[in-house]
Amino acid sequence: MTYETLTLEHDGPVTRVWLDRPDKLNAINPRALEEIAAAFDELQHRFDTPVVVLGGRGRAFCAGADRGEPPGRLARGSGAAPRERRWTSQLGRRALEAIERCEAITIARLHGHVIGGGVVLALACDLRVAAQGASFWIPEVDLGIPLTWGAVPRLIRELGPAKAKELILLCDRIDADTAATIGLVNRAVPADCLDAEVDAWAKRLAEKPPWAVHMTKSQFQAYGRSAALGDVTAMDGDLLSAATSEDPGRFAWGNRNARRSE
Ligand code: COA
Repeated sequence: MTYETLTLEHDGPVTRVWLDRPDKLNAINPRALEEIAAAFDELQHRFDTPVVVLGGRGRAFCAGADRGEPPGRLARGSGAAPRERRWTSQLGRRALEAIERCEAITIARLHGHVIGGGVVLALACDLRVAAQGASFWIPEVDLGIPLTWGAVPRLIRELGPAKAKELILLCDRIDADTAATIGLVNRAVPADCLDAEVDAWAKRLAEKPPWAVHMTKSQFQAYGRSAALGDVTAMDGDLLSAATSEDPGRFAWGNRNARRSE
């Protein structure tokens, strides 16, 4: 596949996958979701890559779902065929599942804005390292939509239900140190140490006994499946379609500064 929204760098045992739309703060459009799924599926067949780092080019990791994309593609009455609406609504789930299916150990390298879908992409990775100065924010509820892409069970898995509900319902921004304290990231480091820290972890992981690492990852994948990820995330696409269909005229998605009127 030729990637338009990603760049892949193979560097010895480490592959770096960069979200690469820096002028849009790496906002995720449907094409990016398809490419993320394709890239991580492709990495399944690179047996010389035991570690994959997911990062963002430019000044942000990811500003969330692309609000320039009309939600109409998902909405009833948009003219899109039901199967196209259904397919589009499931792209987030497919991308997340591809990251989690990847047999390499995945590390999210987080800096700048980490918003909405950006938080969810990071949650699908095995480990997360953040630069101090990174800001985490899940604004979906304030935007009038439920948090989807399978984020709810993943947030509960990482933080427990109380913190997950707080982040999702209150939509507060938190800094990297707070994210580390509540377990949203493994570690917060000074911004100028971010690459050194991520590279050191990647190198250490790449040097560990491969079979033991592989089996350990399989154990966590099995736990993830048993945490009802499948049932909940399959429903998420339909929730998103329903939310955008309810009253598309009043929907605040296209205007970044707007919130829903009620
Ligand atoms: N979707 C589409 N484009 C986005 C985007 C998003 N989620 N977030 C940022 N961008 C674009 C901006 O439109 C702008 O593009 P332009 O120069 O062509 O106008 C560019 O990225 C830079 O963003 P800007 O707002 O100028 O940067 P900032 O530093 O002033 O603000 C944010 C950064 C992240 C606070 C702000 O861009 C923002 O609130 N984005 C929306 C976040 C969001 O709601 N995401 C969806 C969550 S589900």
